[in-house]
Amino acid sequence: MAEPSPAESDVPPKEYEPTERLYPFTPPPAAELNAVLPQFEVLKMLGQGGMGAVYLARQLTLDRLVAIKILPTIEGDSHFAARFGREARALARLSHPHIVTVHDAGKTESGIYYLVMEYVDGTDLRHVLRSGSLPPEQALAIVPVICDALIYAHKQGIVHRDIKPENILLDQEGRVKIADFGLAKMMVSSHAEDVLTMTRQVLGTPYYMAPEQARSGGAVDHRADIYALGVVFYEMLTGELPRGNFPPPSERASVDRRLDPIVMRSMASDPDQRYQAVSELKTDVERVSTASQRPPPPVPISAPTAAPRPVEPVFSLTCSSTYSTRCSVSGRGIGPVEGRGPGTRCRS
Ligand SMILES: Nc1ncnc2c1ncn2[C@@H]1O[C@H](COP(=O)(O)OP(=O)(O)OP(=O)(O)O)[C@@H](O)[C@H]1O
Ligand SMILES: [Mg+2]
Repeated sequence: MAEPSPAESDVPPKEYEPTERLYPFTPPPAAELNAVLPQFEVLKMLGQGGMGAVYLARQLTLDRLVAIKILPTIEGDSHFAARFGREARALARLSHPHIVTVHDAGKTESGIYYLVMEYVDGTDLRHVLRSGSLPPEQALAIVPVICDALIYAHKQGIVHRDIKPENILLDQEGRVKIADFGLAKMMVSSHAEDVLTMTRQVLGTPYYMAPEQARSGGAVDHRADIYALGVVFYEMLTGELPRGNFPPPSERASVDRRLDPIVMRSMASDPDQRYQAVSELKTDVERVSTASQRPPPPVPISAPTAAPRPVEPVFSLTCSSTYSTRCSVSGRGIGPVEGRGPGTRCRS
């Protein structure tokens, strides 16, 4: 079972700040972007994170909605342009139903780097978590889907490096789509001269970052994603971040104790003590979820019992009004849950 890292045990409890700004960056208003992106009608800003801002836009040639992420210009990073092009090409090759597709990438004449992505009309896991309780059954349905996306990307040699609830999007049907694959790598220079001149390196999001990622900056392997997914899993089960000397999930919430070693092993400080492949984590999670779906033992003289209901990894998300603060998530084999969350972006 994983031990919390010693460095973490001194951390005082603190509210999670999801949008810590890693670079001083003021996103331009949508109207300003319109002037420099004539092939799009930029409609509004969807949100801002540590590595830029995301806008909803209409791509005029194809008359479709897209999400455009603009990245801050990094002072003193002389290799950014080359890295941006290289990483964008790698990301555009990813084609998976649970990964947000990158359609295009470029730089405006005014010098703004941007990525054009598939627009996911729905919400993100951060909003769902804020809305109240996410039943453990739904966490057990979501995790294997995230695993599938990670297994696919890792096979292509791409590590996400910034798995966190904000980057786990859920569309109107409740399908999971992971955003910002590989973006953290795009934003980090591995060139020593840049590191010296940059004021601050973007590495990932602190609470979800594997210890070796925090230590080494850019040099991580796929096991950093396993760590971050372990943190997200813990948060989904308990509603809390694993901070300090955190107990296993079943001591914080009413969840199956067999999940404890799975979650704790995913978050082992030493990458060699973690799951070595996402597929192993997925198998263990599915074993628990299948077992917990088993019907109760038969009574002595019983009618035939129902077959175990498989956990359907896709669940549906419905919202009561446009840009409502109320969402419900439900699915086959899992009970519905409702919640409220300010700013939840959902369409009826
Ligand atoms: N492809 C997309 N489709 C729809 N909404 C998106 C898309 N990508 C991002 N968003 C929304 O925009 C918000 C801001 O995204 P952004 O990536 O800028 O911030 P973040 O994920 O909080 O931080 P980071 O920059 O570290 O990834 C997200 O929380 C999400 O709700
Ligand atoms: Mg993001």
